[in-house]
Amino acid sequence: MKILVLHGPNLNLLGRREPGVYGTTNMEEINRQLHKLAAELNVQIECFQSNHEGILIDKLHQAIDVYDAAVFNPGAFTHYSIALRDAVAAVDLPVIEVHLSNIHAREDFRTKSVMAPVAAGQISGLGKHSYLLGLQAAVALVNERGLKDER
Ligand code: DQA
Repeated sequence: MKILVLHGPNLNLLGRREPGVYGTTNMEEINRQLHKLAAELNVQIECFQSNHEGILIDKLHQAIDVYDAAVFNPGAFTHYSIALRDAVAAVDLPVIEVHLSNIHAREDFRTKSVMAPVAAGQISGLGKHSYLLGLQAAVALVNERGLKDER
């Protein structure tokens, strides 16, 4: 099983960026913990970050025949990128939307996610655990799908 982990804009600055909101763990450390969990779950992952909408869209398109699911933190694109939402809807993969902060407890403009209706589910507010739980959820969904296909 192969899972794509996608980090959107500004997440490359984690650890230094608004630590009161996003914590002091940097993206490399989150990726390291994701790789460790992936090894325990016996799945392969690739972690990828971009600050650019089109590059994230291209990466989702390329995932179609390569990955079984994706864990995606779209950053600020969460709240307004219809193009990324359409990409999530277009790829026939379960996409778990994750956020470090609780987007429902912040500014009004963050409470709306244009991704949520097309995501398999959303995990928000649990810091790095949002990603780790997102990976577990992705693996569980793919396993369930596989079981259904076998019936
Ligand atoms: C975020 C929440 C977004 O509102 C924000 O723009 C981010 C990070 C989070 O992980 O909490 O860049 O997606």
